[in-house]
Amino acid sequence: DKGHYRHFMQKEIFEQARVIGNTLQGRIGQHKVLEQVFGTSAADIFDQVQRVQIIACGTSYHSGLVCKYWLEDWAGIPCDIEVASEYRYRKVVVSPGTLFVTISQSGETADTLAALRLAKELNYLASLTICNVPNSSLARESDLVFMTQAGPEIGVASTKAFTTQLVSLQLLTIVLGRRHQLSAEREAELVEALHSLPSLCEEVLSLDPEVLEMSEHFSEKHHSLFLGRGPQYPVAMEGALKLKEISYIHAESYPAGELKHGPLALVDSDMPIVAVAPNNDLLEKLKSNLEEVQARGGMLFVFADKDAGFKNNGSTKVINLPHVPASLEPIIYTLPLQQLSYHVAVLKGTDVDQPRNLAKSVTVE
Ligand code: M6R
Repeated sequence: DKGHYRHFMQKEIFEQARVIGNTLQGRIGQHKVLEQVFGTSAADIFDQVQRVQIIACGTSYHSGLVCKYWLEDWAGIPCDIEVASEYRYRKVVVSPGTLFVTISQSGETADTLAALRLAKELNYLASLTICNVPNSSLARESDLVFMTQAGPEIGVASTKAFTTQLVSLQLLTIVLGRRHQLSAEREAELVEALHSLPSLCEEVLSLDPEVLEMSEHFSEKHHSLFLGRGPQYPVAMEGALKLKEISYIHAESYPAGELKHGPLALVDSDMPIVAVAPNNDLLEKLKSNLEEVQARGGMLFVFADKDAGFKNNGSTKVINLPHVPASLEPIIYTLPLQQLSYHVAVLKGTDVDQPRNLAKSVTVE
């Protein structure tokens, strides 16, 4: 039931504050993650983890990419990540103490499931899945299961599954990090930020009318470029995937620092550039990358922290977001990118919930 929404995707975008709350419910205390929520055998396994291998496809792959930044930065735990369709067809080397993690909304993605089955033949410590469908194949076949509580996701374009995956991966990073370099003080900070996440999501989702206005600049375009740095690079990748998937506009994503190495040649006045610009230690670097784009006539669309110093003018459209803790940036900045792709697709008149050539669950290779 779509309620008063026009599409399931739109409904699912607006559900995010609530379902993120559900994903956190009963899993965190005031200052700590409750690690028994990973299962009774989890503690023994987590004690032995030296490294993490993440496998997923599509949007779920993008949440895994963000987790790599978190695991290495906060926890000091090395993390590798690969798309399942590549991983399953090559010879891999498994380091001792590696936890094998799959991420999947459906729990039925053929390549991800094949990768898990293959991993069981290899020398992994154990397998864990972050999954949204109870009793799915991945949930049944993994040693440990952590359910995202996004509720059924009907739109083919994944939205609330992605943000609840990010929340779940943050909890995983914390329980693993505790056994490595993550202090109790840092954990308390991260958990406090998580408590504020649902209301921050509400606040950012209410920017929808501004995003709608911005979307009008895209409906006649054929190409677009999404830029981010650090953990916002996978967020840019996800923004580009959403746009191409439902509006059929060609969208590429790059880490902003790579522009000079090729993509800058694409930039002209017909190429909208979308940038994700929280106020963090990469902001100044990002700004100088964006100046290079502007010097080539590119029109900029920036989702920026209100204090990041971006101004609206003839060649820059800015949507200001509230300042949020750095640990929440990838989740928060994803929301307006989902809204942007949604509105562009509606303007273009595509079948938003059921885009051409795609299936919700990819159960064949
Ligand atoms: O069910 P899964 O999370 O395993 O699905 C993986 C991808 O097929 C999925 O995320 C796909 O990329 C989405 N349609 C993207 O919006």
